[in-house]
Amino acid sequence: IATASRVAVIGTGYVGLTTGACLASLGHHVVCADADPHKVDRLRRGEVDILEPRLPELVRDGQASGHLEFTQDTKASVAGAEVVFFCLPTPMGVGGAADLAAVEAVSDEIRTALPHGCVVVNKSTVPVGTAERVAALLGRPDITVVSNPEFLREGHAVHDFLHPDRIVIGAAEQEAARRVAGLYAPLDAPVVLTDTASAEIAKYAANFFLAMKLSFVNNLATLCEHFTADVDDVVAALGHDPRIGPAFLKPGPGWGGSCLPKDTHALLTVCEESGVEFPLLRATIDTNVEHQSRLVERVVAECSPGPGTPHDARPGTLPGALPGAQPGARPSALSGGPSDGSGGSAHGSLHGVTLALLGLTFKAGTSDLRDSPALAIARRLRERGAELRAYDPALSETRPDLSDLLTIVDTPEKAVEGARACVVLTEWPQFRDLDWEAVAGLLTAPVVYDFRNLLDPDRLARAGLSWQGIGRSLAMVS
Ligand code: UDX
Repeated sequence: IATASRVAVIGTGYVGLTTGACLASLGHHVVCADADPHKVDRLRRGEVDILEPRLPELVRDGQASGHLEFTQDTKASVAGAEVVFFCLPTPMGVGGAADLAAVEAVSDEIRTALPHGCVVVNKSTVPVGTAERVAALLGRPDITVVSNPEFLREGHAVHDFLHPDRIVIGAAEQEAARRVAGLYAPLDAPVVLTDTASAEIAKYAANFFLAMKLSFVNNLATLCEHFTADVDDVVAALGHDPRIGPAFLKPGPGWGGSCLPKDTHALLTVCEESGVEFPLLRATIDTNVEHQSRLVERVVAECSPGPGTPHDARPGTLPGALPGAQPGARPSALSGGPSDGSGGSAHGSLHGVTLALLGLTFKAGTSDLRDSPALAIARRLRERGAELRAYDPALSETRPDLSDLLTIVDTPEKAVEGARACVVLTEWPQFRDLDWEAVAGLLTAPVVYDFRNLLDPDRLARAGLSWQGIGRSLAMVS
């Protein structure tokens, strides 16, 4: 590259590690800092904990070429840096607002260590006004704070970094914006140069828009079910309109993951705190919760041992409290608590019913369980009394944090053996090619709830299974 820069990246999570390794692959000199000494040790040995294609190779190549270093010493990492990236966690805090504790702590820690005139870049998704807040915390008039949000998808992070749709840079100073844009020059991507508040809003707006599309399509699926229409065909029809497009319109068990829920809630809080009305936000979040409730009711209606079963499955009354279920928790599909106002005790019970769950991660191609819609559905089924046995190709170990909720097994067959029905919750492609005849023989009733519309209904029918998808004609169920 024309000009290699000296870069520090603070935080080596999904975003930080991808940013550091990719910038190093572009020829920059990158020092990545993380407060976790074990993580730093592993990274130095080229061991990457997250499931992200090409990332381990980039980490090892970067170290071998001397372009990438790891340190536990945050202060030392910024020595000599021209650009310092904050890639810190901004989890959902109290009331849904983004928790900026890590950003604040690091700002304070490196305040005096930052080289004169360097640029600090917020890459973490942060509330509007955070660039200004960090600038105030640093109290260094020689330093410009720039907002440069990331739009990486888990499982495609390296690809998305190296082939971005756009690069968004928000800065009050043109020179600082140019310096950050220069880091990405080899990528030849469209650059949107703007002010910091606009860049910060752009990130939230992107994730909110995606969540809104998913809530839309999940509602659309319900409409299709009502009229025995096929949501896949309706979406195909919509997708040909270039103003709509086909992407992000696959119905599923609700949206989740580490970004969409956190960012929509944070934006909602931003709007509420600033007195800005944005009713679509609340509707998008509520729709997700209601959609999951509806899916669970479908399973309960069919799998409940009989009508009029006592409604004794209240959260907290089950053997072992459900992880994450907190009485009075703010309604959220992701908080784990009963979120439809049903208290988990409406219509029918699943006591004595074992269900097989296929897939637990929030989407295929990742081992990430954060805010997984599969877990949200599992919690609701468990609240209704079901025993849950789950198989996920990315999770081989037992998970003590989930042991009150479900049992993880290491083959799909072990999950379905003796189960009342099978529920597909993550779209792992290998589920398509399971031995469905064997599954039919192992289930006590031949029903598969395909909450990803992943499987071929005809294939399942041939195996003697009743297929139940989302928003597709239930007449297809054999
Ligand atoms: C998302 C954004 O896509 C990315 O731009 C941003 O930077 C971070 O958040 P990610 O969290 O990796 O990325 O997940 P994504 O692939 O967007 O999926 C989010 C959720 O929507 C998952 O639960 C997924 O299963 C669901 N989804 C996605 C659907 O149900 N249907 C679809 O058509 C697409």
